[in-house]
Amino acid sequence: MACSDGPDGDDVTAKPRSLTVLGSTGSVGCSTLDLVMRAPGRFAVEALTAGRNAKLLAEQARAVGAKLAVIADEAAYGELKERLTGTNIAVAAGVAAVDEAAAQPAELVMSAIVGVAGLSPTLTAIRRGACVAFASKECLVSAGPLMMAEIARCAATLLPVDSEHNAIFQVFNTAQAGAVERIILTASGGPFRTKSREHMRRATPAEAVAHPNWSMGAKISVDSATMMNKGLEIIEAFHLFDLPEPRIEVLVHPQSVIHSMVAYVDGSVLAQLGPPDMRTPIAHALAYPERMPTPSARLDLAALGQLTFEPPDPERFPALRLAREALRAGGSAPTILNAANEVAVAGFLGQRLGFLDIVRVVEETLSAMPARAIDDLDAVREIDAAARRHAEHAIGSSRLTA
Ligand SMILES: NC(=O)c1ccc[n+]([C@@H]2O[C@H](COP(=O)([O-])OP(=O)(O)OC[C@H]3O[C@@H](n4cnc5c(N)ncnc54)[C@H](OP(=O)(O)O)[C@@H]3O)[C@@H](O)[C@H]2O)c1
Repeated sequence: MACSDGPDGDDVTAKPRSLTVLGSTGSVGCSTLDLVMRAPGRFAVEALTAGRNAKLLAEQARAVGAKLAVIADEAAYGELKERLTGTNIAVAAGVAAVDEAAAQPAELVMSAIVGVAGLSPTLTAIRRGACVAFASKECLVSAGPLMMAEIARCAATLLPVDSEHNAIFQVFNTAQAGAVERIILTASGGPFRTKSREHMRRATPAEAVAHPNWSMGAKISVDSATMMNKGLEIIEAFHLFDLPEPRIEVLVHPQSVIHSMVAYVDGSVLAQLGPPDMRTPIAHALAYPERMPTPSARLDLAALGQLTFEPPDPERFPALRLAREALRAGGSAPTILNAANEVAVAGFLGQRLGFLDIVRVVEETLSAMPARAIDDLDAVREIDAAARRHAEHAIGSSRLTA
């Protein structure tokens, strides 16, 4: 992947790399800025964007000396403006302004908005040929073929930030792509790995977001609990690494130390290991093709003692099957899967449906909306909106009484 060289690790005279962070107030965004602040002079922050959290956005913009701070929620404009009074940081609000932030001439754009809301600004960055550090997996699930075509057309670069895809990127030898037999995505199994379906039926949002290894935003934490996260990652890997669906395997590895593996035809399996700290894959993308230090805990395998593995349980985690079916169906099916899942997770977090209902809503939406071809972004938006309406209706339906 051809991102132009960043500043050399120890060369303090190198020009700072200009950086925009989309979703700076989230879990990935905060980890990104933590690394930026630990590397003075290495990055120059062009723009930061958030959804609603004007207070944190203003604090971040001051702390890193951003040129522009953008809040998607127009109602929060006044607060953001007031909090940045007396600085020369430009302020803007609204969905179009988030796109404009992505259009600013930053060399590197961290795409870390949760959900398909990140699609339009990520495409804006791609279309100006930027190097995109990519966390917003829902965008690739929803509009994968279109995104990949735009990346090729605009000679943009996508650097995977999701820990599994970043791990694969680190050990996938593109010069030997034909010799890759399969990739193995590891999964922690989430908080319900050892729990019964009866336990899961009664699970509360607080339990579902309490991930055993990773500290993440609420949506991806619930996705990890249903294992829809791994389903979305199968689709993400399909687009990023161009391997057919049956050659993308999932292996449960509760310690989250091996972040994924690539198996070659000669029997070699290459893995990337590290502590479960997103700052490691984020740093890999920020510094690429160099490396930069992180404060992440160092791996101590002797202290850890053992690493364990098990196959995923298809009965308790049907989201994996649904994601594979959607990927095989192609066209609009992954768009529907993603939109219905976003609505169902929000419904669960808002206590409008039970934990097991999340996947039921997705399945019901997929079966009600037959897959059709998607030719352009307007079609993605239209199908996304229709799937959201259907999923909302399904949440209100009396059939969902898990
Ligand atoms: N967290 C992780 O460890 C991790 C790991 C791998 C991949 N990812 C992926 O990275 C992405 C971000 O995850 P996260 O855990 O960092 O999420 P998060 O903590 O929920 O943060 C989401 C960010 O997106 C912003 N946002 C939300 N809705 C928006 C909208 N409609 N328009 C513009 N901005 C909006 C939020 O702003 P406010 O704060 O103002 O609401 C926040 O800055 C997701 O796609 C996730 O799957 C995350």
